[in-house]
Amino acid sequence: MRYLTFALAKGRMAKAALKKLEAIGITCDEIYTDTRKLIFVNEELKLKFFLAKASDVPTYVEYGAADIGFVGKDTILEEKRNLYEVVDLGFGKCHMVVAGPPEAKKSLEFNNTIRVATKYPRIAKEYFYNKKNQKVEIIKLNGSIELAPLVGLAEVIVDIVETGATLRDNGLVVLETIVPLSARMVVNRVSMKMEDERINRIIEGLRDLDK
Ligand code: PRP
Repeated sequence: MRYLTFALAKGRMAKAALKKLEAIGITCDEIYTDTRKLIFVNEELKLKFFLAKASDVPTYVEYGAADIGFVGKDTILEEKRNLYEVVDLGFGKCHMVVAGPPEAKKSLEFNNTIRVATKYPRIAKEYFYNKKNQKVEIIKLNGSIELAPLVGLAEVIVDIVETGATLRDNGLVVLETIVPLSARMVVNRVSMKMEDERINRIIEGLRDLDK
């Protein structure tokens, strides 16, 4: 039996994904040890696990370096890799939104050319260009996106809102909602055929957890 390899998006996502996997008997005790090791193995079940930056998880899965990935829908939409998205894991629920100061609502309604700061340029581009038909200038940032309208870098942002606390604490509001998000399981296209039995068992197991 060959190893099945899992790529997990580092951080909260990995913790929640491991919990779900443990609930269906897929365990990896080694991953909890204090080490700088990058790959963890369950020899008995012939499984390998590694943690990666969220935006890299779809890449590992597309190329088959991982058979299975656990990653947010935001990253799947942004990376647009060739893979199967098979299970909505039901955690990490949040929304991709357009946000800004309340007065920015006008510039969205009157179709002005505005600047949009975001960590998600593809999602922002598709939303403004294809869905809204509004010309915008997209400015790519790598974090603390809410800063952009506060310091005059952009009129609005495209970002994730979970509790709404970051927006609220900075006098910003949701202006438009783009799409609901949550954690997903993704699978390499070839692995889905070659290892269909083992992978389908995992998919069914995870789906049954929510019933
Ligand atoms: C995310 C997101 C928002 C915040 C939303 O940022 O980009 O800033 O969480 O959460 P809330 O609605 O519960 O306040 P993250 O903490 O991942 O860090 P980043 O700003 O560096 O991207």
